[in-house]
Amino acid sequence: MTVAITGGSGNISYSLAFRVANGDLLGRDQPVIINLVDIPDMEAKLQGVKMELDDCAFPLLVKTNTTSKLADGFKDIDVALLVGSKPRTKGMERGDLLKQNGKIFVEQGKALSDHAKRSVKVLVVGNPANTNCLIAMKNAPSLKPENFNAMTRLDHNRAVAQLAEKTGKTVHDIAKLAIWGNHSSTMYADLSHTTVDGKNAIDLIGKEWYEKTYIPLVAQRGAAIINTRGASSAASAGNAALDHVRDWILGTENWVSMAVPTDGKLYGIPKDLIFSFPCTTSNGEYKVVTGLSIDKFSEGRIKVTTDELIAERNEVEHLLK
Ligand code: NAD
Ligand code: LMR
Repeated sequence: MTVAITGGSGNISYSLAFRVANGDLLGRDQPVIINLVDIPDMEAKLQGVKMELDDCAFPLLVKTNTTSKLADGFKDIDVALLVGSKPRTKGMERGDLLKQNGKIFVEQGKALSDHAKRSVKVLVVGNPANTNCLIAMKNAPSLKPENFNAMTRLDHNRAVAQLAEKTGKTVHDIAKLAIWGNHSSTMYADLSHTTVDGKNAIDLIGKEWYEKTYIPLVAQRGAAIINTRGASSAASAGNAALDHVRDWILGTENWVSMAVPTDGKLYGIPKDLIFSFPCTTSNGEYKVVTGLSIDKFSEGRIKVTTDELIAERNEVEHLLK
């Protein structure tokens, strides 16, 4: 299988590419070709990353290609990890990147439509991920909307880890956690259906801590990493991208959070957004978990994040076909 990684010479890729080559994405029995894609100025650096990949002698890595031409980078690919774009710095919201980053996804959507396999699984990581994904999807007329996802798995993993720590349990004990909406500070980490070792999560941590501390902690974790590390999350982001696509391809039993195209039929979310829902995956397909009861508190949180996604979509209307 062939996996393209854009932003191939950037921080996330420097962790992600090596783990793809190691079999962490597609399984330990699946040979892989990696196409590292970046802008022309970064071609030399891409070569350096390829040299290091070569030097690992990964048994599953058939070949690494480097290119700044999307037609070559996306030719017959099975998976596209669209990482390449600017990260935010201290004090910015991810949405502030839309002007600079949004246009990248017009060309990438077109190139995927023209060159990738019809079955390609596209994961947008570059921020603001949901709306960038919408731009790519709308510029890819020969692919289906279902080919396109954006990443909220890092938020999901953060939410799981924080809950495990608070309750003194392990991540294995946690089930049915959901991130709703936008990968932004309006995201809603929803524990209203979550269990920890079979017990109701909100009962264990208390409603007050859940609403006042936990939800903002998860929503602001990306900013906290930037403030503490001096750079935006990289290894944990690469790990979440692997988790997302591996579960999409190979399936998973527990709920996972995936930002997927909306059709106007689920939970009152309007059509044509890329919205994070609780999902299950099997046979290479994701399914949004349906029929959940949504209480008043959740309804309010979901509305805020939906409204933000609509506002982002309005801002880039000129980039949508
Ligand atoms: P980085 O600055 O280290 O690397 C970005 C790379 O993208 C650079 O090599 C740059 O040359 C390349 N690039 C820019 N424009 C490109 C284009 N048109 N085509 C191909 N490559 C291009 O940044 P990073 O730390 O790797 O982060 C990348 C993106 O991922 C940022 O937007 C960041 O905010 C986002 N991110 C998202 C999540 C998430 O959970 N969705 C998590 C972490 C980071
Ligand atoms: C994250 O959540 O860590 C990334 O989206 C980077 C950021 O800007 O917060």
